[in-house]
Amino acid sequence: MSSQLDKPARVQAMFTRIVRRYDLMNRLMTLGRDQAWRQLTARELRLDGPAPRVLDLATGTGDIALAIARQYPNARVIAADFVRPMLQAAQLKSRERGSPVRDFAQGDALSLPFADATFDALTNGFLLRNVADLGRALREMWRVVKPGGRVACLEITRPGAPVFRQLFQLYFYRVVPVIGRLIGGDAQAYTYLPNSLTDFPRAAQLRRMMLEAGFREARYRLLGLGAMALHIATV
Ligand SMILES: C[S@@+](CC[C@H](N)C(=O)[O-])C[C@H]1O[C@@H](n2cnc3c(N)ncnc32)[C@H](O)[C@@H]1O
Repeated sequence: MSSQLDKPARVQAMFTRIVRRYDLMNRLMTLGRDQAWRQLTARELRLDGPAPRVLDLATGTGDIALAIARQYPNARVIAADFVRPMLQAAQLKSRERGSPVRDFAQGDALSLPFADATFDALTNGFLLRNVADLGRALREMWRVVKPGGRVACLEITRPGAPVFRQLFQLYFYRVVPVIGRLIGGDAQAYTYLPNSLTDFPRAAQLRRMMLEAGFREARYRLLGLGAMALHIATV
């Protein structure tokens, strides 16, 4: 119980420490696949209104927010995170790349600083394992999106196929912490990463939790040989 209470502080401190090498570690750990998954996350929103408002929650260094802005030039993208140095990195990246993403907000996924039905769509990548109360985070996403709007959640999942599952476990639990120590410069963060998946719901269960949170439909696609899940839900 106390570890759940401490979790936000621990997660904030950890993401503050790893900002500098965060993008490099993502490219290395996913063998360069991570940006394609983020592009797909943006694509699954299928935005078609004249000026949709989209929240990229837990934006980190901003890659999903930037992907949304590229794919939907009419969208107004707001990027939020509860770690200020991550937001600063996202802001800098947006400026350097000439992206139109200009709205950044500091906020906690468990208590979003937005009114009900503010957004036409919402994304998050690699957030859900990190929250202390998953059901509450899902309800908050549901709350801030307008009826009919889409929420797309990209997250690591435990692969089902037996042979690949063993290979994945070897890689994720043994190799990733070593890469994290040698290149990411933070052994603790990259030991936390695999451990955060151990008790995380499987993709089918996460879909059920989305429905329980109020979404009227939810589906998921498996990516990365089944090690990644993209859930798409409708409010
Ligand atoms: C693994 S990073 C993912 C960043 C980005 N979405 C991406 O695709 O690379 C997780 C991010 O979630 C943020 N985060 C974790 N818990 C959060 C919470 N409760 N509220 C807001 N942001 C949170 C962290 O600060 C971090 O930037």
